[in-house]
Amino acid sequence: MYFQQFYLACLSHASYMIGSEGVACVVDPRRDVSLYLDEAAKENLRIEHVIETHLHADFVSGHRELADRTGAKVYLGWRAGAKFPHVAVHDGDEIRFGRLILRFLETPGHTIESVCVAITDLDRGEKPFAVLTGDTLFIGDVGRPDLSPDLSPRELAAMLFDSLHQKILPLGDEVEVYPAHGAGSLCGKQMRPERQSTIGKERAMNYALRAQTKEEFVRLLTAELPDRPGYFALDAEINRSGAPALTDLPPVARLSCEQILASRNAIMLDTRPPQQFGAGHIPGAVNIPLAGQYASMAATLVGLDRDIILIAEDEERLEESRVRLARVGIERVIGTLKGGMQAWRGPVVEIPQITVSDLARERRDIQVVDVRRRAEWDEGHIEGAKLMPLGQLESMLGELRRDLPIAVHCKSGYRSAIGCSLIQRAGFEKVWNVIGGFDAWRACGLPEAIAETAI
Ligand SMILES: [Fe+2]
Repeated sequence: MYFQQFYLACLSHASYMIGSEGVACVVDPRRDVSLYLDEAAKENLRIEHVIETHLHADFVSGHRELADRTGAKVYLGWRAGAKFPHVAVHDGDEIRFGRLILRFLETPGHTIESVCVAITDLDRGEKPFAVLTGDTLFIGDVGRPDLSPDLSPRELAAMLFDSLHQKILPLGDEVEVYPAHGAGSLCGKQMRPERQSTIGKERAMNYALRAQTKEEFVRLLTAELPDRPGYFALDAEINRSGAPALTDLPPVARLSCEQILASRNAIMLDTRPPQQFGAGHIPGAVNIPLAGQYASMAATLVGLDRDIILIAEDEERLEESRVRLARVGIERVIGTLKGGMQAWRGPVVEIPQITVSDLARERRDIQVVDVRRRAEWDEGHIEGAKLMPLGQLESMLGELRRDLPIAVHCKSGYRSAIGCSLIQRAGFEKVWNVIGGFDAWRACGLPEAIAETAI
């Protein structure tokens, strides 16, 4: 048997390829599918099956392109209402190839159409040795129950409880667990960093599985749900239809300075590191550095329906930026600056980078904006700072004074760089990025306030 997990850190996403006797099945493929094709060729496997555990909301899947390029069948839970040729699976349906049996378990809860896949390797025994749990069971968490337009989080959480207790846990404690997401994903809230687990380990360590009753489980799951970015519903719809192949997307046009100055409706998305961006950028540009959770940030803050002009450090990073955007459904990249920022002849603005010692020294008459999440703020923050979580920042800008400088910080400097660019874009002139963020503030032993003492 061949079994491989492919982990994509940018989206905290895990996909899988399982093979036996020359045949392979890919589960929850990412949008750029060439790595599965290359891997299958290397292993002498023919991809004949593609499974989607559910209609993903946080990324665009490559199931349709993979099927088009291999002739594979695509399998989805019957409730998905998929709008492309597929096999609509029911509880107990099986795919058999080589020495493998893949059995579908209907596990509604995270979404109504969710399925898990129990894998039996006949060379190892008659019972499943592993289960691909999609977004039903994560390592340390379970899937969020608030993504349905038709069912309430309480209804879905109640279904998820039944799915876990009637379908997943009975598989047995020794059965290995392979989910579709890891720590950092927006599909759960407290995942552990491991990439695989067992049912027994999750039974012991997963907070959601320790809930004794359905009522307690529903209460736990529906309390403090993480933000639901606007693009989630759009990505689920793209996946219901099946996204076009990446190779069908138009090439990125090379634009002159004049063309860029004339494209007033496009968003200028500058993907360079904060220091480079701060040293000089095109007025109005949004800085989302090509690091961390770049794609989810872009989809959350820019959305899928704007024309985008990409600014990148070099050709390689330009292409990586474009692919990462396409993975979440951002396809309208209309161009880039020909020759990069060195070739820019138009106006330039800066965002000074300041240290935490500068901030502590100049503290008076500066507005300090903390763009972290409330939970992070509650654990400690700079006294007198304003909490303006990045996702809500633009709607809160009215609370800021235009006559005083604004110093923006987050945990370590990634989100604050984005926040600075959004604030400056809204017309504020004195915006400073705090290098190293609250981690640096804390490391320098500077004074902290804790929950509810500030704002
Ligand atoms: Fe999901």
